Amino acid sequence: MSKPGPLPSYVPSGDECALFEHAYRNRLPLLLKGPTGCGKTRFVAHMAAALGRPLYTVSCHDDLTAADLTGRYLLKGGDTVWADGPLTRAVREGAICYLDEVVEARKDVTVVLHPLTDDRRVLPLDRTGELLRAPAEFMLVASYNPGYQNVLKGLKPSTRQRFLALDFGFPPPEAEAAIVAEESGLPRDRCVPLIRLAHALRDLKGQDLEEGVSTRLLVYCATLIAAGMKPDRAIRAAMIEPLTDDAGARAGLIELAAMVL
Ligand SMILES: Nc1ncnc2c1ncn2[C@@H]1O[C@H](COP(=O)(O)OP(=O)(O)OP(=O)(O)O)[C@@H](O)[C@H]1O
Ligand SMILES: [Mg+2]
Repeated sequence: MSKPGPLPSYVPSGDECALFEHAYRNRLPLLLKGPTGCGKTRFVAHMAAALGRPLYTVSCHDDLTAADLTGRYLLKGGDTVWADGPLTRAVREGAICYLDEVVEARKDVTVVLHPLTDDRRVLPLDRTGELLRAPAEFMLVASYNPGYQNVLKGLKPSTRQRFLALDFGFPPPEAEAAIVAEESGLPRDRCVPLIRLAHALRDLKGQDLEEGVSTRLLVYCATLIAAGMKPDRAIRAAMIEPLTDDAGARAGLIELAAMVL
C-alpha cells in the first residue's frame, strides 16, 4: 500500500484529472485504457495523493485468484487467522484500489468485482460470512492495454459496462515534451526532437512494430542524454532496441531516426 504522501508529479493531457475526481465524488469505478508507458500508473498515484486516499495496486495475471484479492485464512502458530487481501483492505479503509492489466485476470476474479462496481457497492466475503459495504471514499480503478487484447481475453461486457472509461493515449506533443524534460532533467528544446522521433516511430505501429515507443522510453532516452551519453547511442538503447528483435526492422528504424533528427 502507498500512503498519501507528496504529490507524484503528473502533467495532464486534457480533462482527465477532473473526470477522475467526478468519478471519485460520485462513487463510480473508472477504467483506463491505453498503451504501455503512457502514464496510467503515474496518473492514479497522483490522483490518489491529490484526493488524500491510500492506494492499493494489484497487478493482475492468469494465476491471480479471487482469494488473492479478497483474503484467506492463514495458519499462525496453530491458529487460523483471517488475512484481508488488498481489495478487502481498500474497502475497509476507504482507499483507492488499482487493478493493473485487469484483462489478465480470470473471469471468476472479475466477477468478484461486480457487486462492488454497481450501485450495491458491497464486497461479500463468503469465507468469513461478512458483507462489507464500501464507504464513500472507496474507489476502484482498473487499467488495460487494448492493443494486447485477444479473443480469449478482453473484458466481458457485464464487467466493462460497470466502469466509466477513459481512453488514455500518449500525451500531446507539448505535454509530452514537458513531461520528458521534467522527468529527465534534459532541457526542453533538446527533448523536442526526441518527441518528433517518437511520433515517427508510433506511426509504424501495426506495420513494422507491435507497439509505438512509450513516454517511459522517451524519459529513459532523455535521462541518458542528460547524463552525458551521446544522443545516437541513447536513442538506440532506449528508443530502438526495446521495440523490436528483428535485425532488418531495427536497421530501418536507425535510418528513420537519422532522417527525423
Ligand atoms: N502525464 C505524465 N506526467 C508525468 N510523468 C509521466 C506522464 N506520463 C508518463 N510519464 C512518465 O512515464 C513513465 C511511465 O508511466 P507509467 O508507469 O504511468 O505508464 P503506464 O501507462 O502505467 O504503463 P504500463 O501499462 O506499462 O504499466 C512514468 O514513470 C513517468 O516518468
Ligand atoms: Mg502501469
